[in-house]
Amino acid sequence: MSKQFDVIVIGAGPGGYIAAIRAAQLGFSVACVDEWKSATGGPAPGGTCTNVGCIPSKALLQSSEHFHHANHHFAEHGIAVEGVSMDVAKMVARKDTVVKQNNEGILYLFKKNKVSFFHGRGAFVKAQPEGYTIEVSGAASETLLGKQIIVATGSSARALEQAPFDEKNILSNDGALRIGAVPKKLGLIGSGVIGLEMGSVWRRLGAEVTILEGLPTFLGVVDEQVAKEAHKAFTKQGLKIELGVTVGAVKAGKKGVSVAYTNAKGEAQALEVDKLIVSIGRVPNTTGLNAQAVGLKLDARGAIEVDGDCRTNLPGVWAVGDVVRGPMLAHKAEEEGVAVAERIAGQHGHVNFNTIPWVIYTSPEIAWVGQTEQQLKASGQAYKAGSFPFLANGRARALGDTTGFVKILADAATDEILGVHIVGPQASELISEAVVAMEFKASAEDIARICHAHPSLSEATKEAALAVDKRTLNF
Ligand code: FAD
Ligand code: NAI
Repeated sequence: MSKQFDVIVIGAGPGGYIAAIRAAQLGFSVACVDEWKSATGGPAPGGTCTNVGCIPSKALLQSSEHFHHANHHFAEHGIAVEGVSMDVAKMVARKDTVVKQNNEGILYLFKKNKVSFFHGRGAFVKAQPEGYTIEVSGAASETLLGKQIIVATGSSARALEQAPFDEKNILSNDGALRIGAVPKKLGLIGSGVIGLEMGSVWRRLGAEVTILEGLPTFLGVVDEQVAKEAHKAFTKQGLKIELGVTVGAVKAGKKGVSVAYTNAKGEAQALEVDKLIVSIGRVPNTTGLNAQAVGLKLDARGAIEVDGDCRTNLPGVWAVGDVVRGPMLAHKAEEEGVAVAERIAGQHGHVNFNTIPWVIYTSPEIAWVGQTEQQLKASGQAYKAGSFPFLANGRARALGDTTGFVKILADAATDEILGVHIVGPQASELISEAVVAMEFKASAEDIARICHAHPSLSEATKEAALAVDKRTLNF
């Protein structure tokens, strides 16, 4: 006899667990199925984000930043420290504790919201008039029947064809977050978000870091001026970034990994490293779902095909997060999860894809929302630009962190904000004001007229808005 639910969510990453909670809040009986196992084999809900993504990477970024500050910045504050050392095992254990706290938090939230959690793999069995039969196999073995199904199975690291992950020497994001000692030499393939964040962690801890990037442009999706500033800062920190390379044979041996590649000039090169992290994008997780049993349609990339509202080709089956089109970001997955639960309830759930913020948690942080200057140029849109450097911001000077700037792009005729780009301290927090402004279709003048606390980094945003009208007060 199968257990019956109004809504079954497959996957408990940020897309799935949030969808499950929202659906339960709306009065549905909800099951959430997730197969992720903790180190001891128990349930570990939270998906990539909690287990091997957003949360653990930020924990390591924080630890390594403290280490960097103790070594390089405390002295300028008059703090003398000697013999600073890093206990990598302790740093990794702290990261694991943070992850566990988040896993447990989600299990608590499921209980609080009366979401039934099943630990195992969920797969489609068949469609029937009352809904869809889902088989759970693993720690829990159950047959479930759901009127509505939300697929939120996420994504996994893409491997180089010639170099499958062994998680000892050739590492995905999973292995990259479990390195047990600072490698003398670390190589990374791909200077995208993971390459830069993970490269920063190990560089700060003393590794010699080389990043090999296939494209000739550094951070091509980022505003060009921001990318240029960030490249300058990363190079100064000692990250070696080689652009326009073609990676060839990769060999892992006892002594580490050797990577043969061709550089931008077409010359054959070799890179010898102790560990290699491959961060060349991610692929949607659909194997194991048994999508074919019910005729669930996938696109050419293997992602589940959905419309703008996350509807699949099957009635009552929805898909959200990394397993569908769009940016692979936790907050995008969450917003889609909430919107789908609300649509199932007959409400008008909505995700504004134009105001999804991006953050790269390097130092300086990079954050943006809306269109880049190069996108506006390419589309022929008339715009005004204003920027303000943190060098002229009192709070940034007091913090001792004056790299970067805030840049605002606004419509030339209406002054509506079209994009905000920040490189510098706390960009991840500062970007929220820009997101709110864009959601409310604010003009640059609106931000310029709002009172911002002094001294605060957010004054740089106000000044950038003033700069759009060529009337900065402090620069
Ligand atoms: P996932 O989080 O991947 O969760 C999917 C879940 O479904 C997993 O638990 C999986 O085990 C489970 N599952 C899959 N198939 C089945 C099945 N058949 N049955 C049962 N369970 C199944 N994004 C940000 O916004 N900010 C960041 O700072 C950030 N940092 C990141 C750092 C790294 C190193 C990585 C790799 C990613 C990072 N991301 C970040 C991206 C973010 O992790 C993803 O966008 C997000 O996790 C997607 O959520 P999701 O719910 O779609 O899928
Ligand atoms: P990415 O798409 O950010 O970067 C991949 C990079 O690898 C690109 O620059 C690409 O040109 C390069 N590349 C691809 N194939 C290559 C090859 N064969 N040789 C050399 N270079 C190659 O992907 P990444 O860093 O793996 O991260 C995956 C996703 O996870 C991100 O796109 C993002 O959505 C998410 N993420 C988000 C974070 C955040 O929000 N702070 C942090 C980390 C990941």
